[in-house]
Amino acid sequence: MSNLKGKVAIVTGAARGIGAAIAKRLASEGADVAICDLKAEWCDETVKALEALGVKAKGYGVNVAVSEEVDACVKSVIADFGKVDIMVNNAGITKDGLLMRMSDEDWDAVLNVNLKGTFLFTRAVARPMMKNKAADGSQAGGSIINIASVVGIMGNAGQANYTASKGGVIALTKTTAKELGSRNIRCNAVAPGFIQSKMTDVLPDDVKKSYMDMIPLKRFGTADDIAKAVAWLAGEDASYVTGQIISVNGGMLG
Ligand code: NAI
Repeated sequence: MSNLKGKVAIVTGAARGIGAAIAKRLASEGADVAICDLKAEWCDETVKALEALGVKAKGYGVNVAVSEEVDACVKSVIADFGKVDIMVNNAGITKDGLLMRMSDEDWDAVLNVNLKGTFLFTRAVARPMMKNKAADGSQAGGSIINIASVVGIMGNAGQANYTASKGGVIALTKTTAKELGSRNIRCNAVAPGFIQSKMTDVLPDDVKKSYMDMIPLKRFGTADDIAKAVAWLAGEDASYVTGQIISVNGGMLG
C-alpha cells in the first residue's frame, strides 16, 4: 500500500500504545513520520520499527501541553522533513476519581494534555498546512485527526476530567473543520471504545466485564483497529470527509 507516499505525518504520544500503532500504519502506507512523546529517547523503538518499513522517521521530545515546546517541535519537524501533511493528536492521560473528590491538579493535568495539547498542535500546524501545494499548484492542505473517546460522547462516572477533555476534543474537531475547510485542511476525530492497552490494562476485572457486556462485537478493540481508521482519514479516500467523529467501538455506542 502506498496511499500516503510523499506525505509527512506528526503523531503525538507515539512512543507506545495506540500512537505507536498509528505511526506504524501511516508508515506502512508510505508516510514519513515524526514521532513525538515526552522524551525523544522513548520514541527509539517506534522510530526503528518505521525505518524497517523503509520510510523516514525521527523522535522528538515534547510536552504537548506546553505552547513553546509544541511550536518548537513543529518548527523542527518542518526543518527535518520539509512540511507537514498529517497531524495526529493522540497523546492522552487519565487521572480518574469521583468528581466530588477530584483535585484541581488532576482536573488541570488531564485538560492540559488531552484538550489544550490538541489545540496547541492544531494551531501550530495550521499555517504550514495552508502553504502545502499540490503538483498542479492548487492548495494541498492537510488532514488533522484527533483521538477522542467513546466516553467523551456518553460520559463516564469517575472520569469527569477525562470525559470533559474528550468532549472538548470533539467540539474542537468540528470547529477546526469549519475554520480550516476553505484551505483544504480537513479535521476529524476517531472515538475509540475500549481498546486493550496500558491505559486500560490497569482497570479492575469487574469494570472490564461490564464494558464487555456493552460491546455487540464481543471483543475489546486493538490499537490497529484505531490505526486503520486514522490512516483512512489521513488519505485521499477520505478527501470529502471533515468535521466527523468516527466511532470505532465494536458497536458499544451508536
Ligand atoms: P498510553 O498511555 O499507552 O500512551 C499515551 C502516550 O502519550 C504515552 O507514550 C505517553 O508518554 C504520551 N504522553 C502522555 N502525556 C504526554 C504529554 N504531555 N506530551 C507528550 N506525550 C505524552 O495510552 P493509549 O491507550 O495508547 O491512548 C492513546 C490515546 O487514545 C489517548 O488520547 C487516549 O485517551 C485515547 N483512548 C484510549 C482508549 C483505550 O482504551 N486505551 C480508549 C479511548 C481513547
